[in-house]
Amino acid sequence: MIVLAAGGGTRMKSSRSKLLHEVCGHSMLSYAVNAATALEPEQLVVVVGHLREQVTEHLHDIAPHTRTAIQDQPNGTGHAVQCGLVDLEQVTGEIVVTYGDVPMLSGDTLTQLVAAHRASADAITVLTAKLGDPTGYGRIVRDAQGLVARIVEHKDADEETLQITEINSGIYVFDADVLRDGLSRITADNAQGELYLTDVLGIARADGRRVGAYQIDDFWQTEGVNDRVQLAAMNREMNRRICEKWMRAGVTIIDPQHTWIHSSVDIAPDVTILPGTSLEGATSVAAGATIGPDTTLVDVEVGAGATVVRTHGSLAVIGENATVGPFSYLRPGTVLGARGKIGAFVETKNARIGEGAKVPHLTYAGDALIDPGVNIGAGTIFANFDGNNKWHTHVGKGAFVGSNSVLVAPVDIGDGAYIAAGSTVTQDVEPGTLAVARGRQKNASGWVARRKPGSHADQAAAAVSDYHPHDEVAADRARQAQQSEQKDES
Ligand code: UD1
Ligand code: CA
Repeated sequence: MIVLAAGGGTRMKSSRSKLLHEVCGHSMLSYAVNAATALEPEQLVVVVGHLREQVTEHLHDIAPHTRTAIQDQPNGTGHAVQCGLVDLEQVTGEIVVTYGDVPMLSGDTLTQLVAAHRASADAITVLTAKLGDPTGYGRIVRDAQGLVARIVEHKDADEETLQITEINSGIYVFDADVLRDGLSRITADNAQGELYLTDVLGIARADGRRVGAYQIDDFWQTEGVNDRVQLAAMNREMNRRICEKWMRAGVTIIDPQHTWIHSSVDIAPDVTILPGTSLEGATSVAAGATIGPDTTLVDVEVGAGATVVRTHGSLAVIGENATVGPFSYLRPGTVLGARGKIGAFVETKNARIGEGAKVPHLTYAGDALIDPGVNIGAGTIFANFDGNNKWHTHVGKGAFVGSNSVLVAPVDIGDGAYIAAGSTVTQDVEPGTLAVARGRQKNASGWVARRKPGSHADQAAAAVSDYHPHDEVAADRARQAQQSEQKDES
């Protein structure tokens, strides 16, 4: 099996190899290699050339079982296959040839192509499709019996041949001997001065062999990507298919045109995805969760029944029935327990937040271990970085951290401890202890009259005949007093 991936890709205008550009989150080459691998070939050779260091390195990451062959000059598809064959010298039987830049081609289609080839007496079977606009493609010229007589490149075609809408996908099954023999006889006597693989088909026919076509309706599976406009179209189509697959599997997607789901994502039934959501990489979403709107999750595991609103998350775990957002930023290492909460304008990094623990508002929690049932007050900062090193903070079970606190790491807050609002905590706090780490309130009576005479504030204060707190505050005071009395009695 040979995957051709040595072409220039110049129309991408990129410093990156065309084959590394991604469709629905994965390189074009990875789709080609996956489809090829589905055939379980004895040997898999990828022919590399243009920017081959990048391509080889990438292949090493995604498919270490593949081998590479080098094509130094892009002298055409026939030459590329000659280069690939150098390593396949001993192979007899069938050789399948595909392209690295045709990402929608499926392993199933390749399997069917091979099956069709085996069921026929043909020496070569080519995968074809009919296109509304066949411009640029090689045309399939059939004979009276419907066999393939030859393939004519667009640039070499006369007016009559250009009318043919059945195109060569560039994907074939060859009888190995016929391929080798044909390749030894092709010449560059054509409009592009290249060695055409397609000429092997005409040579085989001239030798009295049969060449068949296996035509598929799904022309997207034969589409290559040559520039970024085609790349966008390919992304849109593959994404459309991915969304459709999940909707048929029981996922509600409110607006599939504005929902992007990578091919590697896993989603359970009864998940709801709201507009503007992007699910990427190894993300998985369990049953009944609701994601979005406007949420991006990269490599995030979302538990059953969780809600994730207007959030950006990566390498994080969100527990069952937990709630996240709106406007939350979950960085790598965030693990939120079941029924836990990460609320508005909260950033977390390497933070394990236990079951039912809540970090509801305006907090940075970095390098934090927050035990179950903890409440972190609004505006709490886990100061984890001293300018040189990162340090950890532990907040024990059921502890309560008052608003606007700074926990200066490394620091340990014991189970059930209380931190007074506005504290800057630099020392460990024992279980059940109240820590107050802030200046004591001092009221300077009559200060405004002395220092800001005649000001707005002074006039407002002067108008007060008999000061007593506002009704709602007074009511809270009364309630507080009553509660502490009850506690004293019990
Ligand atoms: C080729 C076919 C054409 C077919 C079309 C389908 C030939 C002569 N023509 O067109 O009939 O309709 O594909 O897309 O085969 N490549 C190399 N080395 C080279 C040249 C190409 O590895 O020297 C690889 C490219 O990376 C690419 C594939 O072969 O993956 C096709 O190359 P491309 O130039 O896109 O196709 P054409 O030759 O125009
Ligand atoms: Ca092409």
